Amino acid sequence: MKNWWKESVVYQIYPRSFCDSNGDGIGDIGGIIKRLDYLKELGIDVIWLSPVYDSPNDDNGYDIRDYRKIMNEFGTMEEFDRLLAELHQRKIRLVMDLVVNHTSDEHSWFVESRKSKDNPYRDYYIWRDGKDGKEPNNWGSCFSGSAWNYDEETGQYYLHLFSKKQPDLNWDNKKVRTEVYDMMKWWLDKGIDGFRMDVISLISKEEGLPDGPAMINGYASFNVAANGPRVHEYLQEMNREVLSGYDIMTVGECSGVTLEEAAKYASSEGKELNMVFQFEHMDVDGDPDNKWTDKKMHLPDLKAVMTKWQKGLEGIAWNSLFWNNHDQPRVVSRFGSDCEEYRERSAKMLATCLHMMQGTPYVYQGEELGMTNVPFETIRDFRDLDSINAYHELTEKGIFTREEMMKYIRYKSRDNARTPMQWDTSAYAGFSESAPWIMVNPNYKRINAKEQMERETSVFHYYKKLIALRHKHDIIVYGSYELLLPDHPHIYAYIRTLGEQKLLVVCSFSSQTVTYSIPKEFESGTVMISNYETGERKCGELKPYEALVILQSSDLL
Ligand code: GLC
Ligand code: CA
Repeated sequence: MKNWWKESVVYQIYPRSFCDSNGDGIGDIGGIIKRLDYLKELGIDVIWLSPVYDSPNDDNGYDIRDYRKIMNEFGTMEEFDRLLAELHQRKIRLVMDLVVNHTSDEHSWFVESRKSKDNPYRDYYIWRDGKDGKEPNNWGSCFSGSAWNYDEETGQYYLHLFSKKQPDLNWDNKKVRTEVYDMMKWWLDKGIDGFRMDVISLISKEEGLPDGPAMINGYASFNVAANGPRVHEYLQEMNREVLSGYDIMTVGECSGVTLEEAAKYASSEGKELNMVFQFEHMDVDGDPDNKWTDKKMHLPDLKAVMTKWQKGLEGIAWNSLFWNNHDQPRVVSRFGSDCEEYRERSAKMLATCLHMMQGTPYVYQGEELGMTNVPFETIRDFRDLDSINAYHELTEKGIFTREEMMKYIRYKSRDNARTPMQWDTSAYAGFSESAPWIMVNPNYKRINAKEQMERETSVFHYYKKLIALRHKHDIIVYGSYELLLPDHPHIYAYIRTLGEQKLLVVCSFSSQTVTYSIPKEFESGTVMISNYETGERKCGELKPYEALVILQSSDLL
């Protein structure tokens, strides 16, 4: 079935790092409003806004103190309303982040909950007695250490799968669910266009909270807590009580999701969500139990994962397509090349490879410029608690040396995505008039929006073309997907088919020239887009990081 959210391209804004309008070094809503014409120019349809709610910022807004208030640093509710109106005027939709697996420990529910065992809010969170003087089970927090925190006041532990300032809500309590649904309706009635649901696969915990396998750095709890026994029941209830009443878009962040589970979360019958974020392709360069490595991705592994999801959900559910978000290092540094010679080529190649697939593509701020990882020098340059905690924990336990750990966080830290958006060559990259809350990538004089908007051959213009192509051709949105050359170490090639139409997508992940012949049936086709000029391309080979999209017959263009 056709849907507007299948035909859309989403742009993710991480407000703290997007644009600062009042010179305090912190991005804000005023800053987003200032840059709306830039987004319109890029051609995106929907914005996913990372949390802007009142928060003590232990995890940059993913720890919410008040769901119905805007964070002071970001502005006021009046400014938010203005942002929404200005977006709608430009025909851009707004999807908000919904963070309801946990709240901040400063949320009034938790403040009450921790007061006494018989407080009416006690059961809003997950409290347990210790076991033999230790934590109730072996779950680790995703941000290092135990997932349990002992609370002196009542002598019990509360569960926090993330930081100890992010206590997990108890979804088995109907009152919690009702509070969440009321809050969602409150935002939807304001006119927002949907939700991206933070770690939504974790909301229903296994009965009895059994021990999980021991793993480095907390990832154990992900595997035990993900896709719990009642998660689908709760999402179906949410759908009945809230979502189904609005024409909106919903995407669930589903860490640890399998194909079978995704087919339930995002089933085309529409009982739960529209689509999920799965993360298997973000694990191809990690170890099974540990993301802190600088291992390089092996292309056949990436192809296998992407293909599994492309084919596995076709006609059953809907994929979301992403290389980047605020939790991932920059893709050009990760799967492409950030050396100046190949940065733009490889950024365009990666964009082609993803945007020609079936699903809804997400562009993370700065990706459309080919922004790169950051040359952080010392641990003091980092702001992200995940990276900082992991650095201390893993070096103190002697699992890695400091040098190793610095290398790993420099490569994998979420802060790589969180340095200020690079707008122009002025001080602080045009992001702010004063020193930002996190360092600016020193490459901003070379890599910035102003320069790229003025130059036709830039990564920005290339994204603009890809987005326009998707709007024009149904085959890009709805066509089926078939992988070619699964074992080729350098080439990612696939075919999309819709009715009589066929589209060939060929991407080289190599910095060398590789031999390649276009399948016969495409020889007389039309090149829809490429990151090389016609004269530069050569028959029988692919240039470094070449990307090529060919439509079989030209009369359909
Ligand atoms: C999600 C968010 C991440 C956050 C975590 C806890 O994974 O994307 O930024 O730290 O949930 O809310
Ligand atoms: Ca500001």
